[in-house]
Amino acid sequence: MSGDEAQRLESLWGGDFGDEYVKRNFDDGSARVPLWQWVLDTIEAKTVLEVGCNVGGNLRALATLLGVENVAGVDINASALAALKEAEPRIRTELTPAKELPFADGEFDLVFTTGVLIHQPQETLPDVMDEIVRVSGRYVVCGEYFAEATEEVHYRGHEGALFRADFGALYAERGLKELDRKFFPQDAVWDDLTVWILEKSA
Ligand SMILES: C[S@@+](CC[C@H](N)C(=O)[O-])C[C@H]1O[C@@H](n2cnc3c(N)ncnc32)[C@H](O)[C@@H]1O
Repeated sequence: MSGDEAQRLESLWGGDFGDEYVKRNFDDGSARVPLWQWVLDTIEAKTVLEVGCNVGGNLRALATLLGVENVAGVDINASALAALKEAEPRIRTELTPAKELPFADGEFDLVFTTGVLIHQPQETLPDVMDEIVRVSGRYVVCGEYFAEATEEVHYRGHEGALFRADFGALYAERGLKELDRKFFPQDAVWDDLTVWILEKSA
């Protein structure tokens, strides 16, 4: 694996580029509730971890459904986590790269990403996915941009910063079973997101 590519993208998201994303995307999460209601109608998860939570749009929606003490998030951008802390100080957060999650095996019923696997370099995407599977007790949800074969999409002037892929198939290679899948077309909240609900094998 190339630590250089991981370091480059972690520095991008951890620095000014990531801070600009925070300024553009503040979100109280209320419009995200229907997606998470669909997920929680499909699976029984009581504790959740979001990898790449940014300012907590998903976590604030989930807090209304599961209770604030049952949601947690990690991100590589300190100003995103500071904004989340200010909006909802009770949500547990950790500043950490996704490829090294500071949690025990199976610690959360559900571990998920939305719009985060697409931003991992190909060299360390497997490490990030393995970490997500490791800390999940049972379920993984993956909301990302789909393509049958992995393809790069230029992203805000940066090379190697966004890849569409069949992330469901990549989780299947790790033994996860697809329970459901739904496409959320571009609207005020989502952006042509394919959301897979997956279960670890017993
Ligand atoms: C496009 S945003 C999506 C934010 C959030 N999941 C949402 O749906 O609103 C990507 C987020 O992932 C974080 N991120 C990207 N690469 C990361 C990594 N390797 N480790 C931890 N966080 C990362 C970024 O800092 C940013 O907050």
